Amino acid sequence: MIYLDNSATTRPHPLVTEAVIETLREDFGNPSSLYRLGLAAEKLVKSARASVAKSLGASPEEIFFTSGGTESDNTAIKGVWESRKKQGRRVITTAVEHPAVLECFKWLKGQGADVVILPVDGEGVVDLEALKEALTPDTILVSVMQVNNETGAVMPLKEIRDILGAAKSGALLHCDAVQGWGKEDCGAAPLGADLISVSGHKVHGPKGIGALYVKKGLHLPPFMHGGGQESGFRSGTENMPGIAGLGKAAELLTAEKDERLVRVAAARDRLKEGISSEIEDAVFNGPEDACPSVLNVSFLGCRGEVILHSLDMKGICVSTGSACSSHSRGSHVLSAMGLSKERIEGAVRFSFCAGNTVEEMDYVVSCLKEEVAAQRRLRSAFRRRGQ
Ligand SMILES: Cc1ncc(COP(=O)(O)O)c(C=O)c1O
Repeated sequence: MIYLDNSATTRPHPLVTEAVIETLREDFGNPSSLYRLGLAAEKLVKSARASVAKSLGASPEEIFFTSGGTESDNTAIKGVWESRKKQGRRVITTAVEHPAVLECFKWLKGQGADVVILPVDGEGVVDLEALKEALTPDTILVSVMQVNNETGAVMPLKEIRDILGAAKSGALLHCDAVQGWGKEDCGAAPLGADLISVSGHKVHGPKGIGALYVKKGLHLPPFMHGGGQESGFRSGTENMPGIAGLGKAAELLTAEKDERLVRVAAARDRLKEGISSEIEDAVFNGPEDACPSVLNVSFLGCRGEVILHSLDMKGICVSTGSACSSHSRGSHVLSAMGLSKERIEGAVRFSFCAGNTVEEMDYVVSCLKEEVAAQRRLRSAFRRRGQ
């Protein structure tokens, strides 16, 4: 199998799998228990928190475990609204966010928030002039992702922080860094964010675990009430296998980041070059300097979904957009970029990890070439018959 859908999820690293199994088999204690088995579990949670904190340039007290990117986004966005809605009702996000953010904003609108959705340019990068215009004294939250999951577009978070600073805005900045973690410079300082969401299964960790960075001194209401775990912020007995796996994944991504990026970029570049030289009428979507983990291509005159199924038959996994939207109609990201119907219909997303090789990319290009030619032949035969 050639797995090129790493933005949807990644294969867990063998050391992550080992860490998860160990907590199920041996270290199964409850971190709240006072005997040695419990203390060992508590130590494990502490060590995992330290690894996640290190990867984000944060301190361990600023990291809270969640069930993944979706919960981190919900906790951050709804938490800011609940705690600050008396200070202001304007909340701002972008048109290309993941549904985990966009649906929260939809919910906020129903709660009476004054929601502004910022447009993006033709490459999927947020319009900073629109942000300047939208920013009012009663803005309490700006939420912008770090890397777009469909195009790899990297958002200008530093400039956004500067805009907030120049406007002397008291708005909090939340960043959904689910796709940037381990790939781009993803830390509390470089992002300048007050809240950062990350997820385990996008970085070779387990599913159902993630973390939220909450800047020191910032107090959000608890998302879960109960036994007071996670300093009272997120109650519930800790997901020990998930936490152990996330800690290991974070440790590995910090240690291997540069090496992984070189391999990811090599795979992306080879595929891009192969498509450019071998396949006519293939258009790349997103900016030239996109994060190397994602390559979005439109094969004009073809249907991305048909390409997906044909590649699947040859053992190649790709997608036509985000995993969450793959069953819905069209891509809200490509639509927001103003792309034509033909370009949206023919779009395929390839997303890479360090395990992908350049040899694999050559095979993918040959399969793509065959499929694209077959679809175009079929289409012109239908056209001829229709005439
Ligand atoms: C940008 C982004 N945010 C949030 C999520 C949701 O993360 P999770 O699957 O961990 O809930 C995803 C998952 O695809 C994502 O790509």
